Amino acid sequence: MRPDPTAGAGLPGPAIPPGTGVGGRAGRSAGSLAGKAVVVTGAGRGLGAAYARLAAAEGASVVVNDVDIDAAAEVAASIGAVCDDSDIGTWAGAGRVVEACRSAFGRIDGLVNNAAVFRLASPYQQDPDEFRKVVEVNLLGTAYCGLHAIRAMRDQAGGGSIVNVTSGSHAGSAAMAAYGASKGGVASLTYCWAADLAGTAVRVNAVSPNAHTRMADAFERYLGDRAAGQNVGKDPSTNAPAVVYLLSDTAAGISGQVVRIDGDELSLMTHPGVAAPAVRIPAWTVAAVASAFESDLAHRQQPLGVHPTNA
Ligand SMILES: NC(=O)c1ccc[n+]([C@@H]2O[C@H](COP(=O)([O-])OP(=O)(O)OC[C@H]3O[C@@H](n4cnc5c(N)ncnc54)[C@H](O)[C@@H]3O)[C@@H](O)[C@H]2O)c1
Repeated sequence: MRPDPTAGAGLPGPAIPPGTGVGGRAGRSAGSLAGKAVVVTGAGRGLGAAYARLAAAEGASVVVNDVDIDAAAEVAASIGAVCDDSDIGTWAGAGRVVEACRSAFGRIDGLVNNAAVFRLASPYQQDPDEFRKVVEVNLLGTAYCGLHAIRAMRDQAGGGSIVNVTSGSHAGSAAMAAYGASKGGVASLTYCWAADLAGTAVRVNAVSPNAHTRMADAFERYLGDRAAGQNVGKDPSTNAPAVVYLLSDTAAGISGQVVRIDGDELSLMTHPGVAAPAVRIPAWTVAAVASAFESDLAHRQQPLGVHPTNA
């Protein structure tokens, strides 16, 4: 962890002028996250910075993590947060960011697993090392931070809230196999951990955001006109209230959900499930399966893409 350079003596801790009563173990006293300690990974820019800013404005003591230390330091300094430059794609780095929060604030109440990398490629040109990098940061990084946080939250009074970050691309999107698969893994992680932690005070949800960020620029550069201005005009800050809500105690009954934010629309993503009704096969043969497809399943193929009209 690298402390925010504006924090003073080079020791980890909140970059807060003495006497403001902000941050530290006491936390802040007003707002929907008053008294809570929250980590936002990849918060040096884009959506993560927006989540960190609103979390701080809502009273949380915040750790701003990003491998881009200059970006992280700037955001941290602007909101009086602790700054951390751990690479969350490693088990040790993920442990460091969670520990940064516990050592600065004494606990970790919230984790926003926002850090990710974005790569676009056709299957004919996909570089296997790039595929690995995407999975390491987006899926393993989310899993590693979550595992460290869940163990810390289990051992503290009050539990905690984890907000993972997935993407509509996991429902099927051309040129996004690595990214979409990593985000599909994040959605599955959310469902599985919510099942693991049912009945405890630790909740796990995910968001599927939309905003014009550096990532959206890369998408537009790659797809040109086919990007269809999908995220133009969508400010990262419009996604932050849903994340802060999920972190807050007001969302105490909400777990295992993927919440989608798109412009002025707020919705829940459907979970993958069995498309009923099943076809009964009295005796398993290839011919019986072919017949089931011919008479029924071929006409009920599931659409690709997050919007059914994309099929
Ligand atoms: N922008 C969108 O419309 C959109 C849509 C769906 C999902 N998302 C998701 O939202 C999140 C934020 O996206 P964004 O558009 O703000 O992207 P961004 O590229 O602007 O920001 C991502 C940040 O993560 C940091 N990061 C990357 N690898 C890291 C690592 N190993 N450890 C720590 N930090 C690391 C980067 O330095 C960067 O600052 C991502 O999870 C992304 O997949 C974004």
